[in-house]
Amino acid sequence: MVGDETAATAATAPHPLVPRTCKVVERRRQCDDVVTLVLDVPDASPSLPGQFNMLTALGVGEAAVSISGGGAPGDGTHLEHTVRDVGPVTHALCGTPVGGTVGVRGPFGTGWVAHAVDELDAEDVVVVAGGIGLAPLRGALDALARRHHDGLRTGTLALALGAKSPDQLVFTEDLGRWAAAGVAVATTVDVAGPGWHGEVGVVTGLLPGLAFDPARARALVCGPEVMMRFTIRALRDRGMALERIRVSLERNMQCGLGWCGHCQLGPLLLCRDGPVLDCTEELMALLSQRER
Ligand SMILES: Cc1cc2nc3c(=O)[nH]c(=O)nc-3n(C[C@H](O)[C@H](O)[C@H](O)COP(=O)(O)OP(=O)(O)OC[C@H]3O[C@@H](n4cnc5c(N)ncnc54)[C@H](O)[C@@H]3O)c2cc1C
Ligand code: FES
Repeated sequence: MVGDETAATAATAPHPLVPRTCKVVERRRQCDDVVTLVLDVPDASPSLPGQFNMLTALGVGEAAVSISGGGAPGDGTHLEHTVRDVGPVTHALCGTPVGGTVGVRGPFGTGWVAHAVDELDAEDVVVVAGGIGLAPLRGALDALARRHHDGLRTGTLALALGAKSPDQLVFTEDLGRWAAAGVAVATTVDVAGPGWHGEVGVVTGLLPGLAFDPARARALVCGPEVMMRFTIRALRDRGMALERIRVSLERNMQCGLGWCGHCQLGPLLLCRDGPVLDCTEELMALLSQRER
């Protein structure tokens, strides 16, 4: 009987390479070339902040996109994905209207925490994001900010966010909300525009102004690889051990399941062992090798 049930379940479970078709229920423009799609995923498995889905633009192709909101148990069936239009698939995804459909497979990969954000309650947390690198961090920041506001954390919580220009800043509607919850929010842009009165310069320039104890802090870092390398260097200069720094890495993803090898980085398959990884000397060596 048990064998029959197992066989029946296996027969009805969707194949992991077959996407579910999901409706776009909301579409928010973040900036010129970045759109957040809210998808209704009725049978979504719970996900950790930092994990990603493979999204299909029907008839065009598939791309890895981080889950930028929703997904926690109790959050309902709405999952947010924030997409930058850089090529055919992301262009079609960004153009999908409310009521249109998108294929979804996942969630895949590792999150910023192993099980839940309360793992970080006793630690100072410094989040460093470059541009759309804030997308995979947004769910973690939301959950941490909620716990911070409710007095459940004993560590400090800070966000350093950099963008090329003021009009490239994403999730601007969230920044005030996080600040109100007690997050020390600092932003900077490479090039200021009219009306910008904030910081100008690279994101690492914000770190000296943020209160955290390097000995007990955890850094969560996502952005262009060059930005992550400089951020890691600045955090180490401040006295933070490499192992206290987590990064999210992007490579070409195809299956998302550890089957095809497209996302290989040395001994790692980033769809399975990443995208979020603890920094180690070995990882730093792999990253610098790729750039030679
Ligand atoms: C784990 C993971 C999470 C991601 N999360 C997001 C996200 O939240 N939002 C988002 O907009 N994008 C995200 N990406 C990147 C996204 O998958 C690519 O931009 C997308 O696959 C590009 O497909 P395309 O057909 O639109 O363009 P393509 O024609 O395939 O590529 C256009 C340009 O983007 C570059 N590119 C393609 N894929 C990647 C990649 N993986 N990393 C860096 N450069 C790439 C190409 O070299 C080319 O220059 C993520 C990638 C990974 C691996
Ligand atoms: S994407 Fe196929 S092994 Fe990682």
